[in-house]
Amino acid sequence: MLKKSPILSKKNLLIGWGIFIIVVAGVFFLGMLAASITERRAEIATLYANKKIEINGINAKNEEWGLNYPREYDTWKKTKNMDFSSKHLGNMTEDQLESRPEMVVLWAGYAFSRDYSAPRGHMYAIEDVTHTLRTGTPGDDVKDMQPSTCWACKSPDVPRMMQEKGIEDFYKAAWSEHGCEVVNPIGCADCHDPQTMNLTITRPALIEAFERQGKKIEDATPQEMRSLVCAQCHVEYYFQGDSKYLTFPWDGGMTVETMEAYFDNANYADWTHTLSRAPMLKAQHPDYELFLMGPHAQRGLSCADCHMPYKAEGGIKYSDHQIVSPLKNISSTCQTCHRDSEDNLRNYVYEYQDKALEIRNRIETELTKAHIMAKTAWDNGATDAQMQQALQLIRQAQWRWDFAVASHGGSFHAPVETQRILAHSLDRSMQAQLELQKTLFALGVTDIAMPDISTKSKAQEYIGLDMDKLQKDKENWINTTLPGWLEKAKAEGKIISNS
Ligand code: HEC
Ligand code: HEC
Ligand code: HEC
Ligand code: HEC
Repeated sequence: MLKKSPILSKKNLLIGWGIFIIVVAGVFFLGMLAASITERRAEIATLYANKKIEINGINAKNEEWGLNYPREYDTWKKTKNMDFSSKHLGNMTEDQLESRPEMVVLWAGYAFSRDYSAPRGHMYAIEDVTHTLRTGTPGDDVKDMQPSTCWACKSPDVPRMMQEKGIEDFYKAAWSEHGCEVVNPIGCADCHDPQTMNLTITRPALIEAFERQGKKIEDATPQEMRSLVCAQCHVEYYFQGDSKYLTFPWDGGMTVETMEAYFDNANYADWTHTLSRAPMLKAQHPDYELFLMGPHAQRGLSCADCHMPYKAEGGIKYSDHQIVSPLKNISSTCQTCHRDSEDNLRNYVYEYQDKALEIRNRIETELTKAHIMAKTAWDNGATDAQMQQALQLIRQAQWRWDFAVASHGGSFHAPVETQRILAHSLDRSMQAQLELQKTLFALGVTDIAMPDISTKSKAQEYIGLDMDKLQKDKENWINTTLPGWLEKAKAEGKIISNS
């Protein structure tokens, strides 16, 4: 007993020191945390105190918000940059139909077969929607191709106009009716309450979709809001009924199957394919829905964690508003959590993407073939009854392909789910071919002529588009009608001239 005591007391001493050091360290870190929170509070308080102008109501003019919040504004302005490309994505325009002309055939009869470019920065939202051939050339003698709903994810002028006119009246107007109103690209008033600068939801479609699921947006945590502001636009949606009311098909759930069931139950098709005559669905960009099914969302991350990392400038911490590929700044995105080299982190992303694209490319070949086989069957006198099952399979295959592909980040956000969806698409493409093969055999057709669709222009000619005319009309429209819209907006003080 006695012998042991010196050892014990030495041990006790060590434990005592250990506890002391832990307590000191703990107090130190708590102090740091408190200091950092107070500092951040102080920073935000200073921001508010230093407001140069008072912003009231829905102010779509980003330049005016910029006077109060110059750091966020300056980084937001960089969404105009076109200086980054990763292996498959980036912030430049890229003509997708040129690199994958089979998509022209997949979208035959739908505006996407005319023109489809990779997305670029938010700053281009207005320019791109006005310049694309998908919005056509509305004017005195040409009717609008699109309803005003098409503006919904392009500008903070949208919530402004909805407040002015009413939501339904906004959607159901012709697209061109709001050409001189919707003029500022995606910006501050899309995501922020001007009084508190809290994140806020300005798009009724998201609030309504939550309500139909029995949830309330107001119950979202601040961390969830850092994704929900994006989910106002980066989601699956459709234009419901005659008023073209923007609606998210989430009532039964947010998976590719539950949304398909929603459309099937509503007997809904976006268009009838001009070759196969299948009742088609166009997937938009279910980025949020797919993201939720991936490993990062399941660990509680939000979009802003990777796409709007914190930056520090002169001791002030703020969110980088240049929303872009996180691979542009791996050190301030992935590496804030992962102790891994830039090369490894980049390669994780590329590996997921390459593997998904392998299957995507197979689908594009086989599904295109299915459409052309269906056309051949019709041309040889197939009946509705003979075609019905094959057309359903084509609809299902293409919905799955589009869902996985149109969510450009999906193969990284939710690699396993994306691969699963693509696998089902390929499976249904092949099943459709089997069905069609039977019908063609019954009709005595042995020769299926595959057209040359090796370039975008050959594919567009094959589906019967007069691209020269479409392009000439659009160019003319861009030079004549469009400047008038912008001049009117300027004259009415809706845009700031130097922007
Ligand atoms: C008001 C609708 C809207 C909101 C809100 C919105 N986006 Fe976008 N986003 C778009 C549109 C439209 C484009 C394509 C613009 C173009 O190509 O002209 C786009 C493009 C992008 C791109 C591609 C940029 C590039 O450089 O290629 C990324 C990444 C992106 N958004 C992420 C986000 C994230 C993250 C959020 C939330 C913090 C968000 N977006 C919120 C509509 C929106
Ligand atoms: C697509 C949505 C989106 C747009 C557009 C947007 N912001 Fe933000 N903003 C965010 C998010 C997300 C945060 C982080 C908020 C948080 O973590 O609580 C943020 C944070 C802020 C903050 C708080 C300080 C900081 O930097 O974290 C300010 C101030 C701010 N934004 C100003 C602006 C201004 C000015 C504009 C327009 C030029 C703008 N924002 C446009 C989403 C957006
Ligand atoms: C864990 C990090 C991370 C989170 C969180 C995240 N993303 Fe991404 N996102 C990426 C990466 C990586 C890419 C692929 C970029 C590349 O290939 O250059 C990407 C790509 C994208 C793209 C395609 C960009 C383009 O140029 O076409 C969009 C759009 C996008 N993400 C939106 C979102 C939205 C919306 C959310 C939230 C619902 C989100 N992301 C959450 C990492 C993330
Ligand atoms: C805010 C923290 C955070 C950021 C930023 C972040 N990650 Fe992660 N990441 C996580 C967490 C947490 C996990 C789950 C880890 C686990 O379960 O072991 C994870 C998992 C992963 C995985 C494994 C996925 C799987 O299938 O299980 C990869 C790969 C990965 N991250 C890559 C990236 C890349 C690339 C970026 C940048 C574009 C990034 N992460 C950004 C926190 C982050």
